[in-house]
Amino acid sequence: MNRVRDVAVRVRQVLQGDLEEVIALDAQVTGLKKPEYWAELYHRYGMGRRRERQFLVAEGARGIEGFVIGEVRDWEFGSPACGWVFGINVRPGRRQAGIGSQLLEAICEGFRSLGVTKVRTLLARDNNLVLSFFRAQGMMAAPFIPLEMELGQ
Ligand SMILES: CC(C)(COP(=O)(O)OP(=O)(O)OC[C@H]1O[C@@H](n2cnc3c(N)ncnc32)[C@H](O)[C@@H]1OP(=O)(O)O)[C@@H](O)C(=O)NCCC(=O)NCCS
Repeated sequence: MNRVRDVAVRVRQVLQGDLEEVIALDAQVTGLKKPEYWAELYHRYGMGRRRERQFLVAEGARGIEGFVIGEVRDWEFGSPACGWVFGINVRPGRRQAGIGSQLLEAICEGFRSLGVTKVRTLLARDNNLVLSFFRAQGMMAAPFIPLEMELGQ
């Protein structure tokens, strides 16, 4: 266990038995309960079948305090293999105690162990909290721009 300020957590691979808490944590933050989505994510990222795919949780004395999900992708957007962080979340009330940093460091360690030297993420332009967090970890603007369009019916 690592003690960071006042919250001690252990970062480990997610287990099926954690899913209910992960779903509740996500619902607390997003206002939406999505059990099928999380079951699918667990199936794809959480079963440890491929080291490139990671779904980690931070476990404290009172249960799951946060999670992070990501994977190593080869040659996406013409770029050599790099780690992508798709989702990170820490329980409100347990934030600013280093848990997010520990989760990110753990997933980056997994990426490094696969020989990857870069990590990327994507976030909403107006999500200042997540931007502050990633900037504090040393992340900088990447040489890509996101594009989208409506597909219509
Ligand atoms: C972003 C998030 C994961 C950070 O988790 P956390 O455990 O609070 O992060 P840490 O305590 O490790 O913070 C590390 C650094 O990030 C920055 N940071 C964290 N919270 C911040 C805040 N509220 N305001 C400004 N900077 C902040 C700080 O620089 C902090 O370092 P410091 O405490 O020494 O100042 C958490 O706030 C969260 O889950 N937010 C919602 C996530 C979300 O919207 N997810 C959906 C998109 S993936």
